[in-house]
Amino acid sequence: MSEQRKKVVLAYSGGLDTSVAIKWIPEKYHMDVITVTIDLGAVKDLDAIREKALKIGAKKAIVIDAKDTFVKYFIFPALQAGALYEGVYPLATALGRPLIAKLLADVALEENADAVAHGCTGKGNDQVRLDVSLQVLNPRLQIIAPVREWKMTRDEEIRYAEEHNIPVEAKIKSPYSTDENLWGRSIECGVLEDPWVEPPEEVYKWTKNAKDAPDESEYIEIEFARGIPIAINDEEMDGVALINTLNAWGGKHGVGRIDHLENRLVGIKSREIYESPAAMILHTAHKALEGMIMTKDALRFKDIISAQYADLIYNGLWFSAFHQDLVAYVLSNQRLMNGTIRMRLSKGTCTVVGRKSPLSLYNEKLATYQKEDTFDHSASLGFIKIYGLPVKIQAQKQMDILAGREALHLDSIMPPKVKSIHKSGGE
Ligand code: ARG
Repeated sequence: MSEQRKKVVLAYSGGLDTSVAIKWIPEKYHMDVITVTIDLGAVKDLDAIREKALKIGAKKAIVIDAKDTFVKYFIFPALQAGALYEGVYPLATALGRPLIAKLLADVALEENADAVAHGCTGKGNDQVRLDVSLQVLNPRLQIIAPVREWKMTRDEEIRYAEEHNIPVEAKIKSPYSTDENLWGRSIECGVLEDPWVEPPEEVYKWTKNAKDAPDESEYIEIEFARGIPIAINDEEMDGVALINTLNAWGGKHGVGRIDHLENRLVGIKSREIYESPAAMILHTAHKALEGMIMTKDALRFKDIISAQYADLIYNGLWFSAFHQDLVAYVLSNQRLMNGTIRMRLSKGTCTVVGRKSPLSLYNEKLATYQKEDTFDHSASLGFIKIYGLPVKIQAQKQMDILAGREALHLDSIMPPKVKSIHKSGGE
């Protein structure tokens, strides 16, 4: 009796690498391939991809619409956290990976599979994110990463495809490597590898060049409840529709282009271009709302949390207890973030021009310089006296050090005395 063949669930995008994998895995590992194509919002013909998988030789081809889950469990929590990697990258690709890992693990269980497979290379962050997540979700699953394992160059891969009747689309001739989902588009390789070269216009698909954007600026109002955007211009929308709307709107005005020389998890610096109109608009608006509702200390602390959170997502540690701890803080902190931000989209920029919230800490009577002013000016005197006490005493006791007279290697924080100019007559 022949033993039953093992099964592997392959994350299938329809591109060259994973198409070749459908043929390569059975040759190398003698397993049957089940493909899973996951819709995270990239515009694609999912039926055609399914057909293609079956035609190449997959035993089964599954398509999963995960857009709502992506928004609810990954995108919006990252927005609430203020997660921008190195302050600029909204993490579209990075956020998709733990969800893809989860769905692979789910399907593997359902299909009684022994292994999962993905098309990541051995040089990027994505292999780490997927493998680490899978090890948490189901350590029993064997992980196969064909592109990391086979030693084929691009040309050899194309030859392999042609020999095995795998359709090779003309668009793979493109020098760029791209990844996209609802939250943004990532583009790397080709001329972008030279960090001095300005990205050619052809790399952009979602955003207009600012110079071709409409001359008329447009205004949008985004309403948030607990830090989650719920309506645009008073029209309530579900998350997917809201993000799609902002991607289109922002893209039209050239908003959302990012040029980032980033620090990869695997130790190298890489140059990446991103298009993320919705993410850029929403992060900008969300931060402005927080600025109105949170105290100064809370804001300072949130910046630290945001940076940690972004690192955690980027570094593939979504499924970790540390993440749960950070989420607990963020959710507690976001329960007050209700309000509306008004923004102007114009020629590649999105600018906050108005904000309002029922929980605002801004008090016009305290801020105004008009006669309505209720701020107690005379109280400032006592405040300054106490507030300045530590440095006043320090100056009395340690002036020599402050002036740098006893500094060894450190430069003084105090500039040398500036000679005054005496204009005495008849020199
Ligand atoms: N550098 C980004 C990240 O690690 C995006 C990588 C996406 N891949 C691509 N082919 N451009 O999250």
